[in-house]
Amino acid sequence: MPLPEQFIEQVKDANEISSVFASYLPLKRAGRDNVCLCPFHSEKTPSCHIYTDSQSFYCFGCGAGGDVINFIRLMEHLDYVESVKFLAQRAGIPMPDDGGDKTSMIKQRMLEINREAARFYRDVLISEKGREGWIYLRERQLSENTIRKYGLGYAPDEWGALKKHMLSKGFREQELIDAALLVRSQKSNNTYDKFRHRVMFPIIDRRGNIIAFGGRTLEPDAPAKYLNSDETAVFHKRSNLFSLNFAKNTKEKFLILCEGYMDVISLNQAGFDNAVATLGTAITPEQARLMRQYCEEVVISYDSDGAGQKATMKAINLLSDAGVDARVLQMTGAKDPDEYVKKYGPDGFRTLLRQAGGAISFELKKLTIGLDMDSPEGRASYLKKAIVLLAQVESRIDRMVYVSDTAKLCGMTPAEIEKAVEERRRYNSKTAQKQERQEIINPGRNSQTVRELNLSPEDKAQRGIIAFMLHSPDYLKRVEERITAEHFPTELYKKMYSIIANRIKNGDSLDISSIGDEFSAEEVGRITGIISENNLLPYQKERLYEYITVLEKYHDKYFGKKPEEMTDSELLEQMEKLRKEKTKKT
Ligand code: UTP
Ligand code: MN
Repeated sequence: MPLPEQFIEQVKDANEISSVFASYLPLKRAGRDNVCLCPFHSEKTPSCHIYTDSQSFYCFGCGAGGDVINFIRLMEHLDYVESVKFLAQRAGIPMPDDGGDKTSMIKQRMLEINREAARFYRDVLISEKGREGWIYLRERQLSENTIRKYGLGYAPDEWGALKKHMLSKGFREQELIDAALLVRSQKSNNTYDKFRHRVMFPIIDRRGNIIAFGGRTLEPDAPAKYLNSDETAVFHKRSNLFSLNFAKNTKEKFLILCEGYMDVISLNQAGFDNAVATLGTAITPEQARLMRQYCEEVVISYDSDGAGQKATMKAINLLSDAGVDARVLQMTGAKDPDEYVKKYGPDGFRTLLRQAGGAISFELKKLTIGLDMDSPEGRASYLKKAIVLLAQVESRIDRMVYVSDTAKLCGMTPAEIEKAVEERRRYNSKTAQKQERQEIINPGRNSQTVRELNLSPEDKAQRGIIAFMLHSPDYLKRVEERITAEHFPTELYKKMYSIIANRIKNGDSLDISSIGDEFSAEEVGRITGIISENNLLPYQKERLYEYITVLEKYHDKYFGKKPEEMTDSELLEQMEKLRKEKTKKT
């Protein structure tokens, strides 16, 4: 059910786009507008523009764009109506009565299920039935306070304890399956509790919703030590972090990134409220960008074993791609932060935090692994790799520090190494220039902006006409005198044109926020891109007519002639095109 246009306008007016952006990301002023590092792809220099006049945004790096509603849609993984609701709430505007839609109701219901399940697990934990779980957590030195703070619970060693409880509360079996709390047996077709004989960790998003669970087994040789909820309508493990609901309020300027739930909880108990963990997977770019919203720097505190150190390398790269500074905490005498704070106390861990070196030191140190640094061969081999690495350090001061460390390690003077590093940097920048030029001649997959400039005449025409209709809807009649939606060779543009033309005929608003209802978030981004690229040119009818002619000619070439009138090459081209269309559809 569509929301009233007037209401959407009211919501938009109450949510100035740059202030909404600013509640997620640091912005930089650029004249009347703002720019920021794009939250939808990883980058180091800001290419996401927030336009004050049009109350829209557009990222020249990845093509995301739209109005404030579309921003929330992408940012919060909500659908269109949910995003409007979210912004209405933010501004304290009550929703019109029929504003509830189906998906958001399903999600609300699922969150309710999770809340009730967490309550159940917690009640069991503090009851006689949960004794084993309680003893386990207490033996792991968690205080009653911490157990309460994290809402920890216990899933008893039974097949249907949760199921029985939830059914008695009026939830249906299928809803519980959808929430990933019940599993259906392939053999008997019966359903049973997913989590059994485990201590339970509710996973809570930054808005305080319980979105999933992690469960640690109490069986000595269970196949999986930790079991996590499968993805559901409310749980996307790629874009959430454990304990971010607490860490987002920290006074520290950095976050501590751990591997495990227990590490985070132990650290929290020891006074480090800025610890977070990924949810049973390696860190994802989404999580790196999520951290960037809350801190300037991340201290990676992975396990001291080989796996942890390898994962550290990956985290450094992802964080750096997301534009977050990373330092690496190095631990000896304990295998993970949980063990370390218990053994050496909060002060011990604080010292480790202070000593945590930059990502570069970590990488430089890694280079020495397997080399005999006492032999000239070993040092030479180290130096070659070190120079490549040092050349990538952008800050001159940082470079000087690391160059001098490296020099010491190899028994050379800093000047000698600096010379080699500077040479390497010159070489790099030449290669980069070459690549840039190559990119313009032959655009690669990642450079949206360059690709956009290289549009084929038909694409330019399709996009141009769409922009024209949005800008000057009165021209629709002239367009319709000559072409129809069928003249648009690309499905996406055909769809855009038809919807826009229909709206014009019905007298509906063409504001990007009103048409957003009929397009996906990505499509809204594309439309914003189309508008901004066309706004660079004057909206004169000559341009419009030229575009129409291009589409007419294109259409005639492929569809206007009877096959016997076509040249051989046109016929071949036509067949090839039809074949492609077909494979696209299947
Ligand atoms: P660890 O095995 O390092 O956890 O896994 P831990 O915190 O030291 O475990 P304890 O102290 O024995 O309880 C780290 C994280 O990896 C995920 C979990 O998210 C865990 O917190 N993991 C681990 C799984 O998802 N499944 C597993 O079987 C093991
Ligand atoms: Mn552990």
